[in-house]
Amino acid sequence: LFIDASEQSSRPIPQTLFGIFFEEINHAGAGGLWAELVSNRGFEAGGANIPSNIDPWSIIGDESSIIVSTDRSSCFERNKVALKMEVLCNTDGTHICPSGGVGIYNPGFWGMNIEQGKSYKIVFYVRSTGAIDISVSFTSSDGLQTLSSTNIKASASDVSNWTKMEVLLEAKETNHNSRLQLTTSKNGVVWFDQVSAMPLDTYKGHGFRNELAEMLADIKPRFIRFPGGCFVEGEWLRNAFRWKASVGPWEERPGHFGDVWMYWTDDGLGYFEFLQLAEDLGALPIWVFNNGISHNDQVDTSSVLPFVQALDGIEFARGDASSTWGSVRAAMGHPEPFDLKYVAIGNEDCGKKNYRGNYLKFYDAIKRTYPDIKIITNCDGSSLPLDHPTDLYDFHVYTSANNLFSMSHKFDRTTRQGPKAFVSEYAVTGKDAGTGSLLAALAEAAFLIGLEKNSDVVHMASYAPLFVNSNDRRWNPDAIVFNSFQVYGTPSYWVQRFFTESSGATLLNATLQKDSSNSLVASAITWKNSEDGQTYIRIKVVNFGSNSVNLQISVDGLDPNSVKLSGSTKTTLTSANLMDENSFKEPKKVAPNQTLLEDAQEMSALLRPHSFTSFD
Ligand code: AHR
Repeated sequence: LFIDASEQSSRPIPQTLFGIFFEEINHAGAGGLWAELVSNRGFEAGGANIPSNIDPWSIIGDESSIIVSTDRSSCFERNKVALKMEVLCNTDGTHICPSGGVGIYNPGFWGMNIEQGKSYKIVFYVRSTGAIDISVSFTSSDGLQTLSSTNIKASASDVSNWTKMEVLLEAKETNHNSRLQLTTSKNGVVWFDQVSAMPLDTYKGHGFRNELAEMLADIKPRFIRFPGGCFVEGEWLRNAFRWKASVGPWEERPGHFGDVWMYWTDDGLGYFEFLQLAEDLGALPIWVFNNGISHNDQVDTSSVLPFVQALDGIEFARGDASSTWGSVRAAMGHPEPFDLKYVAIGNEDCGKKNYRGNYLKFYDAIKRTYPDIKIITNCDGSSLPLDHPTDLYDFHVYTSANNLFSMSHKFDRTTRQGPKAFVSEYAVTGKDAGTGSLLAALAEAAFLIGLEKNSDVVHMASYAPLFVNSNDRRWNPDAIVFNSFQVYGTPSYWVQRFFTESSGATLLNATLQKDSSNSLVASAITWKNSEDGQTYIRIKVVNFGSNSVNLQISVDGLDPNSVKLSGSTKTTLTSANLMDENSFKEPKKVAPNQTLLEDAQEMSALLRPHSFTSFD
């Protein structure tokens, strides 16, 4: 491998090159990154009509001691369903209350993770015909072990109208499969609505589950595309994500059923929270909005602007606090504008009847009001010129390992003129991928090296999907796997960690000598470490073949005074078998392994079969 590090052979890599794509899929947000523990907190998941299914809430007590129903008496206009609980204990000596009382419980998303010493904020709205004495507790899944509990008492006059209750529970023990209970032994009628339980300690205090957000921060993403994917489109428009219904106080959000990935979300993780997440990660937000097209229905171009209201959405993110939508954002605690500079018009809708017409409407309207915003089309401009104006074109690829490996050259021949590529979804899928194999990761590493080398035409790239709750695997594979209390990165996640320094770095000219097996792909960069101000070199090589390779690396034209070589390391991602995966039991079976190197200027290195190696 010959590396020419001279200035004339080098070029800057865009600051935006590597980021992440968050989609509400696989319970990535609800029951995932969003730390809310209660599922269906407003009792709306069964639909707006009553009687409504309150799943996954369940009843404690039998019909002789408690009657639970739903009505439309909530104080929240956009989500009228409330839960009504009639407690009949001891009325005639035959209705005996179980000890501990009767009530309801919520198991969260496949069990709540309650940890000893940690505090949880419980909020709920209550109304009653009489005085109340309600026990709020976290218990084991069978209700037998109490992890934390407190009592809320109020007089009849205090709760004759809807009243907000707020308590802190500190856990005395740990249980990864807990539930939240609201119980009472006091007869009467009680209504509940909008029941929330959040850990007090969340990422940057903004409601994101710490360990999951930290996995994202470690990728150092330069952008975050959100909230989908198909989630943005919906099978039907009526079920598509509506940003306006996802902002404002959480209690007032109606929530919605995502009919592509087939689950309800309370929309606690809404448009505001995505923008906040981007800011917290130091990443640029990329908002994908529905352009009036779902999988099965479409809005006519003539009426699409009022239907989607994208300009209001941009004003929500960027308008000052005195603007109509900027003031809504400010009231949510963020008076400063968010740094929204990119929007994508739709997702995978290019071939659809109204796409071009709808797209142009948005393009013109947005460019007129916000000329600096960069717009992303769904139509692929990598092979043929596009017939409409755009700043970037979206490119998605899900394929076999061999295909993706050879696609490391995909953008070599793309025209250098015109809009740039945003590879916003890529992954190896199918049998090569298992549920996240080394084989898939190696092909992806080669593909990413190809993007890095073509970063004059590819300006952004993100793996998809990002997260999977192992209890609801709707799409396979994914980068980060979790359940209520555990998390691990698949090999594909670890590949992304090799590229954390690439965005904004300098690409060097790296040429491989004729490789008879065509199994090697390599690149080299120099990057500046903001912590010590030093410039470092990083060489990355994928060996996709089944033989080890003795690679001679020579670096020319490097200024040893400005680029740091001493203390160099070799980091390798490989494993005994190509189909090896990580798991909760062996979370780092396939993870980078680092060793020290002697001399990085003129060196030979043994590349293991089926491996990804970086020399730093
Ligand atoms: O990443 C999973 C899905 O794949 C996305 O929702 C969609 O854009 C693509 O088809």
